Amino acid sequence: MDIRFVTAGGGDVVAVMASEGGELFEAGKTLDTASNGHIAKALKAAHFKGGAGQMVDVLAPDGVDFARVLVIGVGKADAADSMAVERWAGHAVKRLLTSGAEKLVLQPDALPGVSKAEAGAHAAMGARLAAYRFDTYRTKLKPEQRPTLTAVEISMDGPAAARARAEKDAAIVEGVFFARDLVSEPPNVLYPESFAERLRDLETIGVEVEILDVAMMERLGMGALLGVSQGSARPGRVVTMNWKGAGAKKTKPLALVGKGVTFDTGGISLKPGAGMDEMKGDMGGAAAVAGAMKAIALRKAKANVVGVVALVENMPGDNAQRPGDIVTTMSGQTIEVLNTDAEGRLILADAVWYAQDKFDPSAVIDLATLTGAVVVALGSEMAGFYSNDEDLAHAISAAGTTEGELVWRMPLSAAYDKLIDTPNADMKNIAGKPVAGSIIGAQFVKRFVKDGLPWAHLDIAGTAWKSGPYEDPLSPAWATGYGVRLLNRLIANKYED
Ligand code: BES
Ligand code: MN
Ligand code: ZN
Repeated sequence: MDIRFVTAGGGDVVAVMASEGGELFEAGKTLDTASNGHIAKALKAAHFKGGAGQMVDVLAPDGVDFARVLVIGVGKADAADSMAVERWAGHAVKRLLTSGAEKLVLQPDALPGVSKAEAGAHAAMGARLAAYRFDTYRTKLKPEQRPTLTAVEISMDGPAAARARAEKDAAIVEGVFFARDLVSEPPNVLYPESFAERLRDLETIGVEVEILDVAMMERLGMGALLGVSQGSARPGRVVTMNWKGAGAKKTKPLALVGKGVTFDTGGISLKPGAGMDEMKGDMGGAAAVAGAMKAIALRKAKANVVGVVALVENMPGDNAQRPGDIVTTMSGQTIEVLNTDAEGRLILADAVWYAQDKFDPSAVIDLATLTGAVVVALGSEMAGFYSNDEDLAHAISAAGTTEGELVWRMPLSAAYDKLIDTPNADMKNIAGKPVAGSIIGAQFVKRFVKDGLPWAHLDIAGTAWKSGPYEDPLSPAWATGYGVRLLNRLIANKYED
């Protein structure tokens, strides 16, 4: 998608904003005047209320240079934030992407809480995100399924400030698309080794990439991760991605750790067949970390950040671990594996420990599609998150709100922690009762965080991809890329010089 900032755009279609109550903003009013009141008349005839995403498609109005005017609601003007502008642009692109139209002119207006420059930049962001497709394996697209829209002009007075912001934001879009692509890839194509190779490419943008193979992980004593991976013919990998952008090279890095189960059958505790294909997305945490690393490297963030992803395939092969196996982690702690489908926490145990041991970080944040329970609790609207540190927790909530990647904080406590005690080892990997499933997962990972280190855990099982009734104009594919924007914003707000 070619995005241009111009002072007077021309093309087939123009999109303008309206707020709740059906009020047009400046750009829309100008078109309405030129059309001699035709647009306002069309809005009235359509009972247009200006709710977020509501759209009236005005065809061939007289007196206007455009053959088509899309009036799209942003909701209440006072409450509309930069994300409302992104969704506004996203709705326009979504409507036109395969419509035959080749060029869209967006005329964003300032809102009470959004400056003109912000509105322009976020319109560009929304347009780009909405145009995402994953067509790699579709060899027989019909003409009407093919994107026709190739250019978006953002038309506004004094576009320079918005253009400058949008150019920087392109790095974030690249990061989100990288994560979406990784989550979308089928599991016969994306498996631990091929995933690691894709991460190797980040070297070209200045990220130091290191790949640990099975022999190295054995030497490090990663018994929990290797226990999961041993059931698969495909060997596991741990990949570290190191971005050293801080002025002071000695600044302790922020560590991001991602669950990268390239396919989760459940192992010997086999999952039911229906819907199992979705478990190709069980590497969404690793994808979010990889996408965030790409974004911060592309925009040359002045921060030290290390990403660590644990890549395995959870299969019930003849060498698979059994329920009842006891494994020894790199930390020395032992785990009784009572359910081989609670594998994410097992690989995180070693990856979170390794991140601390190797990089001495100032904080650790892990992301994982960890539990079905968090999907029951929060659906696809928000990720569940946990933290032992108030500052970090507030910064994560704020970053998520700004970027439209929402989180909801959940509790940790000694009483929950006790539920994973077992007489047979230091801990077991499930509570054994269908209670507090997402919390138990978090308590388990917490046992591998060193005392006093700020840590947060994001359970993104409901947000890494969309199943069910959710529609998001900024996330047109199944994979969302959730987490990339939140992490990038968190780094910009809290960890940059
Ligand atoms: N990858 C799944 C969690 C998941 C479920 C992600 C649905 C996305 C959508 C995870 O490895 C898993 O199987 N968790 C089990 C844990 C249980 C055995 C304690 C679950 O949630 O059922
Ligand atoms: Mn599982
Ligand atoms: Zn899993």
